[in-house]
Amino acid sequence: MRHANKENLKFYKNKRVFVTGHTGFKGAWLCAMLHEMGADVTGYSLTPDKGCLFEKINGKEKVNSIIGDVQDYQSLKKAILDSQPEIVVHMAAQAIVKDCFDNPMFAYGTNVMGTVNLFESIRKCKSVKSVVVITTDKVYENKGDGAVYVETDPLGGIDPYSSSKTCMEYITDTYKRSYLQNEERMVGISTVRASNVLGGGDHIQSRLIPSILNAIATGKPVELRNPHQTRPWQSVLDALNGYLTIGRLMYDEPLKYSSQWNIGPTLDGIKDVLWVVNSMQEHYANAEYVVGETFDVKESKTLGLDISKSLMKLDWEPMLSCDKMLYNVVDFFKKQQNGESEADICSSQIKEFLEL
Ligand SMILES: NC(=O)c1ccc[n+]([C@@H]2O[C@H](COP(=O)([O-])OP(=O)(O)OC[C@H]3O[C@@H](n4cnc5c(N)ncnc54)[C@H](O)[C@@H]3O)[C@@H](O)[C@H]2O)c1
Repeated sequence: MRHANKENLKFYKNKRVFVTGHTGFKGAWLCAMLHEMGADVTGYSLTPDKGCLFEKINGKEKVNSIIGDVQDYQSLKKAILDSQPEIVVHMAAQAIVKDCFDNPMFAYGTNVMGTVNLFESIRKCKSVKSVVVITTDKVYENKGDGAVYVETDPLGGIDPYSSSKTCMEYITDTYKRSYLQNEERMVGISTVRASNVLGGGDHIQSRLIPSILNAIATGKPVELRNPHQTRPWQSVLDALNGYLTIGRLMYDEPLKYSSQWNIGPTLDGIKDVLWVVNSMQEHYANAEYVVGETFDVKESKTLGLDISKSLMKLDWEPMLSCDKMLYNVVDFFKKQQNGESEADICSSQIKEFLEL
């Protein structure tokens, strides 16, 4: 096993980190992880949903939580200037494919102009040394032929979510080349094309794991949108560990590590939706499924991600097997059902991952 966790642990202690999207699913896990590492975190997001993981883990006690819209440049700039971060992780996004399809103006406003506002703020804030922008595996032009994408493949997301995330790739590259890497300033800047993450505590019912767990809790069969759709599934902990590793490496060697990175599972983690349900059935015998309505947002049927470049060049690799990833999800749910606090469950899964 590699030692990325230990390096990240040492590095992030007392570092000032600015996280956008800290109240979201990944954001809550990232706040909890950075808290365990001893980082000084400021988060910037919209008001969290009632009953979301961020609330359940008492996120406000772990980070300086600022409620604001990334579309509001003055507010975002003030938050960044006030907190003087060294590392920025940009995760704030309209991240639900169907929501973006239904409200493209808000999706583009947040994902595109929000990213422009972030970089304009970073231009004014000289303390920032490293910026990690989270996009998605859906930025690739998907030919629907089952290809596994590498970082040099053409971009071209079609639906509003994927296309707005593709725009984020171009905006990031433009700010890097035009403003933030020159003789006066050398900021490490990368985009990270992340695959679907699975973890405990997600509350958004339209996503796969919450819909399976809800079906289990209510004894009803789970409705699947596209049971044979193939996706690269990875543990939320492995994904976050990838983001933090890139943030750390760029901090000291910005030119060497500023790039585009695929962060996902190894090839054995590319499986269809049914596999997730069937694996959950091994833990819950009553998890039956029915095929739900498919909505037409031209979602790709297959999607694979090649992480060879990250494995070769970063001090990172996925550490949790598919089974362990799903075990953690089920374990989280069972402990929740037994009344254990989400803060404690998160903390113990993170400590196990970090070998603390
Ligand atoms: N969850 C996944 O499987 C997955 C896969 C690939 C990429 N991603 C990307 O990872 C990031 C985090 O995803 P997530 O699953 O945690 O999403 P989420 O929907 O759970 O959280 C989104 C976060 O962004 C914030 N946000 C949304 N609009 C905003 C706005 N206008 N101003 C300020 N904050 C705003 C929300 O308040 C929330 O904190 C996103 O950029 C998403 O595109 C997620």
